[in-house]
Amino acid sequence: LVEYYLHRQVNRRMVNLRSSKAGFRTSQSSEFGRDAHKFLEEHKKKFRGRFHSSGYKYMTFVMDPLLYPSVIRHGRQLDFHEFSDKVAPVTFGYPPIRGGKFPGLPEQIGRTFQLLQGDGLSALTESMMSNLLLLFRQDHLGGPPPGGASGDWRSAGMYEFCNSIMFEATFLTIYGRPASASRHSDTGLLRRDFVRFDNMFPLLIAQIPIRLLGRTKAVRDKLIDYFLPHRMSRWADTSLFIRTRSELFEQYDALGDVDKAAQHFAILWASVGNTIPATFWAMYHLARHPEALREARREIQSVLGLGDGVPFSSSRDVRLDREQLEKLVYLESAISESLRLSSASMNIRVAQEDFSLRLDAGRSVAVRRGDFVALYPQTMHMDPEIYEEPQSFRADRFLQDGVEKTDFYKDGQRLRYYLMPFGSGSSRCPGRFFAVNEIKQFLCVLLLCVDLQLEDGQAGATLDASRAGLGILLPAADVRFRYRPRNM
Ligand code: HEM
Repeated sequence: LVEYYLHRQVNRRMVNLRSSKAGFRTSQSSEFGRDAHKFLEEHKKKFRGRFHSSGYKYMTFVMDPLLYPSVIRHGRQLDFHEFSDKVAPVTFGYPPIRGGKFPGLPEQIGRTFQLLQGDGLSALTESMMSNLLLLFRQDHLGGPPPGGASGDWRSAGMYEFCNSIMFEATFLTIYGRPASASRHSDTGLLRRDFVRFDNMFPLLIAQIPIRLLGRTKAVRDKLIDYFLPHRMSRWADTSLFIRTRSELFEQYDALGDVDKAAQHFAILWASVGNTIPATFWAMYHLARHPEALREARREIQSVLGLGDGVPFSSSRDVRLDREQLEKLVYLESAISESLRLSSASMNIRVAQEDFSLRLDAGRSVAVRRGDFVALYPQTMHMDPEIYEEPQSFRADRFLQDGVEKTDFYKDGQRLRYYLMPFGSGSSRCPGRFFAVNEIKQFLCVLLLCVDLQLEDGQAGATLDASRAGLGILLPAADVRFRYRPRNM
């Protein structure tokens, strides 16, 4: 990402990344693309905590997590939206909304994010639960598997399983269903196009012109058309979040129907692009650690008042509201742990003015207007000083005496930021509470309704590093698992 971004954005010329006391060479920058964590880790050792690439603009990587608060508190001078407003419109196909053409729109869009919290979150959570149950019942628990008896094991690809359920359940929850049916008949095609687009996402974010990416433009046009106002007006049970955004867009004559649709499409990507791989990793790690899976199931049964061993019938309506979800502390720790292991998002900020970035008592660094400052939390997530045996999955890592563990240390000092899959500061992901709830709900329904096992004779899942910098990494290949309805 950095390599492409610098090549494209910084005067559109090859950048000379000097190998000086604090920089790295152009030839080395392709190593960043291959394994960003390793690359940054090596440079951190060389340049002790902070280093920058030089050329027409500086990119300063702040590597010491004890210094993260210094960057995050400079929200006014170090802005996220300047970067995102350049990249997102080109990626999703809508006009840039900052810069005066749409007065007040960026601020009003920002306000709609509040609808993903509080009462808005309760409504989303309730709707997500009924959509998950609907899909599990109709697609996975209904009749016997093809050619088998009910109760037989079924085999599936785990990523594909998570993808199909989470894509459709999230879609129904956020955008709603057709007025006369409980599911959209063409979700399979929509998801297929979405995956095609998503495969090209790293290149689009890197500002590679879409015309150079084969059929990607046609695929994106189709995806955008799905959200045209005349289509969305025929949907029912649309979330307040999306309804408010639609009403807001109607107030701007300068926004055409396709522009409005592209805005909705961008939210589709934001809402499933990371949640689906995050769900996969949580499910995968639990499946790999049967004792953790049993503990998670015990906790869910206890919060639901089912008691250990009491059969759960999938036909029974499960109400798992926000308060109950908050009590699932072991499950939450397991999800945090899988986010720690799979998240590779980079926090990029653009300096709004020349200023001196004070790092700690003794150190500050001069930042020029337009320079980039970046945090790469994956390096912190994998730091053995902060997380013992950082490569291992420990479901209870974020749990202490039955409550969330929040004290993690580096150089003997307590860290303010130790887990950052959702970014930082004022631009922190507004969907983070909904995302964690959705993943919890998926795991609750899964663990209550089915027994599952990884199939034998396959290698463990590994991370596909090609999206380093962009969020939750996908698995390099899918893994097979078996499942069958339990206690029915
Ligand atoms: C932004 C991660 C799920 C909506 C972001 C950012 C990250 C992120 C890293 C950028 C923040 C920054 O650079 O400071 C994730 C992860 C998710 C997830 C890991 C799932 C595990 C969701 C969901 C929604 C959502 C479910 C919506 C329903 C958004 C939006 C933004 C955003 C709208 C842009 C915010 C802005 O422009 O200020 N997310 N996200 N995300 N996310 Fe999420």
